[in-house]
Amino acid sequence: MPDKSEVIEVLKGVIYFAKGDNIVDLGMLDGLEVAENSVAFNLVFPRTDEPAVNIVTNSATKALKEAFGEGLNLRISPISEKEKGRGPLAGVKYIVAVASGKGGVGKSTVAANLAVALSRTGAKVGLVDADIYGPSVPIMFGVEGEQPGVYEREGKPVIVPIEKYGIKLLSIGFFVDTSKPLVWRGPMATSALNQLLGDADWGVLDFLVIDLPPGTGDIQLTLAQSYSVTGAVVVTTPQKVAHADVRRAASMFNQEKLHIPLLGLVENMAYFVPEDAPEKKYFIFGKGHGESFAAELGIPVLGQIPIVERITAAGDNGSPIALEVDSDVSKSFDQIAHAVRNRITALLLQK
Ligand SMILES: Nc1ncnc2c1ncn2[C@@H]1O[C@H](COP(=O)(O)OP(=O)(O)OP(=O)(O)O)[C@@H](O)[C@H]1O
Ligand SMILES: [Mg+2]
Repeated sequence: MPDKSEVIEVLKGVIYFAKGDNIVDLGMLDGLEVAENSVAFNLVFPRTDEPAVNIVTNSATKALKEAFGEGLNLRISPISEKEKGRGPLAGVKYIVAVASGKGGVGKSTVAANLAVALSRTGAKVGLVDADIYGPSVPIMFGVEGEQPGVYEREGKPVIVPIEKYGIKLLSIGFFVDTSKPLVWRGPMATSALNQLLGDADWGVLDFLVIDLPPGTGDIQLTLAQSYSVTGAVVVTTPQKVAHADVRRAASMFNQEKLHIPLLGLVENMAYFVPEDAPEKKYFIFGKGHGESFAAELGIPVLGQIPIVERITAAGDNGSPIALEVDSDVSKSFDQIAHAVRNRITALLLQK
C-alpha cells in the first residue's frame, strides 16, 4: 500500500509542459487522499478545457499504476483554478489581451489607454506589458527604472506590481534584459510571463489588460494555453497592408485548441486631426477599411482613434492621453472601454 509521500514522489515525475515543471512543485496537487490501495486527488489547472489536461492526467495515471500496480484504485479530478478559488489570478475577473499581428500599429497605446479608461469607469485595473521586443509600459506610465517590490509567501517570492494613476503595472522589461538578442530572450520571456501573471500579487481586479508583442509567437501561445483569457482586443490601422498580419493573429486566437474570443477591433490612426483645426478629420489612409475588415472577421468595431500628435507626446511623457478630462481623444478611449465591457457581458451571457 502506498503512503502519501511515495505518491508525491511519483507525481514529481509528471511534467506540466506549459509551465515547464512538475505538477507537485507547481502546486497543482490538491486534496490528496491515500487509503488502502486507493489514491484520490484533484489536479488544479489554469483552465480545464485545454488538451494538456488529458495529457497530464494520463501520465499521472500511468506513473502511479507503474509504481503501485495496475490494481490501484485511482481517482484524479482535474479542476480549474477558478473552481478551486485560488491561484494568483483567482481575484481577477476578466483578462483582456491587446493584440495585433503587426508591429507599431498602436497596441501599447491602446492597452495603456484602455486600462486608464476602464479604471475611469470605476473598475479596478491592472496592466501587464508582455512585449519582449520593446516593453513600453514603463515609459508610458513614467515608471522607468522603478523596481517592483518582492515579498515571500510560503517560501516563494511574490512580486508586488507598481501602482500609477490607480492602475497596477508590471512589465516584462523589469525581468528580461532587453539589451540581449531576442534568441536569448525567447525562452526567458515565457517564464517571465508566467512570473508576471503567476507570481505577482494582483489582488482583486475587475480587468487585467495584457499588452502583447506583435505576431503569433511563444508569448501569445503561452498566454492562450495556460491562462483563462476572457477575450482579445485586436488593433489595426486603416491600411490594407496591415490587415494580412492582423488576420493571422485573429485566426491564431480563433483556433479550436487555443480559443480566445475576439472582443472586437480597434482602428487606430483612423484619421488625422490637426492640433490647430480639431474640427477637421482627414482620412489619409482611406475611410471605412476598419469596418469592412471587422465585418470580414465577424467581430464588432470597438472604436476608432485619430492620429493626434498629443498621443505620442503623452506616451513619451508618462501620462496616457486617456487621463485628459473630456477631450475628444479621451472620449474615444472611454467609448472603447464601454464597448469592451458590453461585449464581455454579451459573450458571458451567450455561454
Ligand atoms: N493614434 C495615434 N496618434 C499618434 N501617434 C500614435 C497613435 N497611436 C500610436 N502612436 C504612436 O506610434 C508609436 C507606436 O505605437 P505603439 O508603441 O503603441 O505601437 P505598438 O503596436 O505597441 O508597437 P510595437 O509593435 O512596437 O509594440 C508610438 O510612438 C505611439 O505614441
Ligand atoms: Mg507595443
